[in-house]
Amino acid sequence: MHQAVISGTGLYTPPHSISNEELVACFNAYVATFNAAHAAAIDSGSIAALTPSSAAFIEKASGIKSRFVVDKSGVLDVDRMVPHIAERSDEEPSILAEIAVAAARQALERAGRGPQDVDMVIVACSNLQRPYPAIAIEVQQLLGIEGYGYDMNVACSSATFGIQSAAAAVQSGQARAVLVISPEITSGQLNWRDRDSHFIFGDAATAILVERADLASSTHRFAIVASRLKTQFSNSIRNNFGFLNRADESGIGKPDKLFRQQGRRVFKEVCPMAADMIRSTVTEAGLEVAQMARFWLHQANLSMNLLITRTLLGRDAEPGEAPVILDTYANTSSAGSIIAFHQHQDDLKAGEHGVICSFGAGYSIGCVIVKKI
Ligand code: COA
Repeated sequence: MHQAVISGTGLYTPPHSISNEELVACFNAYVATFNAAHAAAIDSGSIAALTPSSAAFIEKASGIKSRFVVDKSGVLDVDRMVPHIAERSDEEPSILAEIAVAAARQALERAGRGPQDVDMVIVACSNLQRPYPAIAIEVQQLLGIEGYGYDMNVACSSATFGIQSAAAAVQSGQARAVLVISPEITSGQLNWRDRDSHFIFGDAATAILVERADLASSTHRFAIVASRLKTQFSNSIRNNFGFLNRADESGIGKPDKLFRQQGRRVFKEVCPMAADMIRSTVTEAGLEVAQMARFWLHQANLSMNLLITRTLLGRDAEPGEAPVILDTYANTSSAGSIIAFHQHQDDLKAGEHGVICSFGAGYSIGCVIVKKI
């Protein structure tokens, strides 16, 4: 068995940011227009009036202040509230592959590696643009990588599940190095007209290079010490979009074909599961929670992360101990914990441990313990 290390990470951040205030101004303009257009029906009680959103609520309930998106104009157009993303010809790179490649190039550069050093590409994300050909194979071709690639979807936990698959391929000798890429254009699956969730998501892409330890030479190396995955079926976070939708026209365009969740329930059920997973993964690796210098947690909700670290540590996390990126990125699904890892790893000293933990729809939880080399 070979030892697997993470030798480089990369991040693509879209060029446009939307503040809570901008988002709420658009949402509330939609509410006012809807209520005026349906005034008679609202007065007669046959439909309910819509209620405005609030920037103060969003920040207090989630910790989110703004989010990046690949297109801002469509999202903030009150008559549309959907990003403008033009269809491309089959001869052009798809947008998901394009942002995946941007993140992957950065990961390769930080690892001091080129496409010739990589044998496998996993595109692991919640929001795949099409069923086939796999985005991973397109990325492989765009980067000029030999070998093979495949897509996988384990919702917000896709990146950690991808890291475990990549580590297994490296450990068994099937691959010298594997790119695990998580491109998330969540703005396409978000119901920007749903008050309960319109503020939750943002777009980004991350990449991680998992490499054989004896071949890796970058200064950004982290040994993969242990990893554990868990899934448990739940309907609390669900999206019914799929190719069978066309087989029943009555459901096309209905809100269940976009992201929806029971936020309170998710909060209550997932926090203890994530804390348990981290504790048991750390313990089974022969370590203690107190030895973890950093917690790179999934970035959905600040209170969730504060509760998970408080449960684990028996005290509030120190500033920087559990880095927060959701304030400016919002929930970028599978990319979130990897953005935190990418942006908050360089100060760790050799020998220090940290834990990457993702959690989300499924439910799915992935936990990876790393040690700075
Ligand atoms: N603006 C203003 N008020 C709002 C609002 C908005 N956009 N959305 C909801 N509210 C109101 C509700 O009407 C409710 O009012 P009431 O108490 O008078 O009935 C109140 O705020 C609380 O609503 P609730 O939905 O219970 O909010 P919450 O505190 O649970 O926060 C989430 C909502 C989504 C931020 C939170 O549940 C969450 O983050 N859960 C984790 C789930 C998650 O992020 N999953 C992603 C995948 S892991």
